[in-house]
Amino acid sequence: MTELHSMQDGFVLNNGVKNPCVGFGTYKTADGSDTEVLKMAIKAGYRYFDTASFYGTEAFLGESIREMGIPREELFLTSKLWKTEMGYHETKQAFEETLKNLGTDYLDLYLIHWPLPEDGYQDWKKLDIDTWRAMEELYRDGKVRAIGVSNFLPYHIENLLENCEVRPAVNQIEFHPGYTQEFTVRYCQEQDILVQAWSPIGRSSLLNHPMLMEMAERYGVSVAQLCIRYALQRNVVPLPKSSAMERMKQNQDVFGFEIGREDMLRLGSMAQTGWSGLHPDGGSVRSASK
Ligand code: A2P
Repeated sequence: MTELHSMQDGFVLNNGVKNPCVGFGTYKTADGSDTEVLKMAIKAGYRYFDTASFYGTEAFLGESIREMGIPREELFLTSKLWKTEMGYHETKQAFEETLKNLGTDYLDLYLIHWPLPEDGYQDWKKLDIDTWRAMEELYRDGKVRAIGVSNFLPYHIENLLENCEVRPAVNQIEFHPGYTQEFTVRYCQEQDILVQAWSPIGRSSLLNHPMLMEMAERYGVSVAQLCIRYALQRNVVPLPKSSAMERMKQNQDVFGFEIGREDMLRLGSMAQTGWSGLHPDGGSVRSASK
């Protein structure tokens, strides 16, 4: 495992850019209405924010950063291109809109949010390639420091590797004990693509899981801290969300303990628990979108 001592330490991407090791997830944080939670996260010490055009939080994040007077160079900002924004020209346009929303002139990381624009879409290979060409140009023009994907399965990534020039630096996927997507994680790590975890704490079914509660108690931490630490020890970047200062801080306090080997193996082979129900190839068991 990479030596990590605080949130500011990080993993080095395949293009040499440093990706801080813990970020703050902004899905549903602003609830479409205000900047309260985001400003609280900045006060709690977060400087790495993960957003997306789909979340509707970009503009609130931009406003929070301005109001709090945080210098741009202290921040690591990720955003994502939504399904309806895929395609060469659409990507360029969406990117400009994202910059405007955030009030910045570059991104640290820009991701394709999902490989398919809709369930069962047949021509996804061409659409992904056209989209990626635009991402490559943004990268070469210096408007984004690294480019990557989200919710891609290995065969979606192979399509880019075979047909494009810049390798994705990141794949952001659902990852937590009970849903660790071993096949995809192993593939990405073999290909030197950094894995990031959305929903690293999973859902309430994880927070109240007896085995996780027992394990967390042994380490003297909360189940949330155990899950965040688990991601780090797998060289995966956790992007936890919270709406409360105390838990925002708690989620950063994950560098003072180490999960032992047997427990790591147990966490990686739990029965499926807390899965969102979302799958890149569609057929979601829920109507929720992420
Ligand atoms: P809250 O906003 O009340 O803190 P994930 O990032 O895996 O999707 O999880 C987000 C959920 O986990 C939120 O509902 C959040 O609730 C909760 N959560 C975040 N941090 C903690 C924590 N340290 N302890 C308990 N629940 C947490």
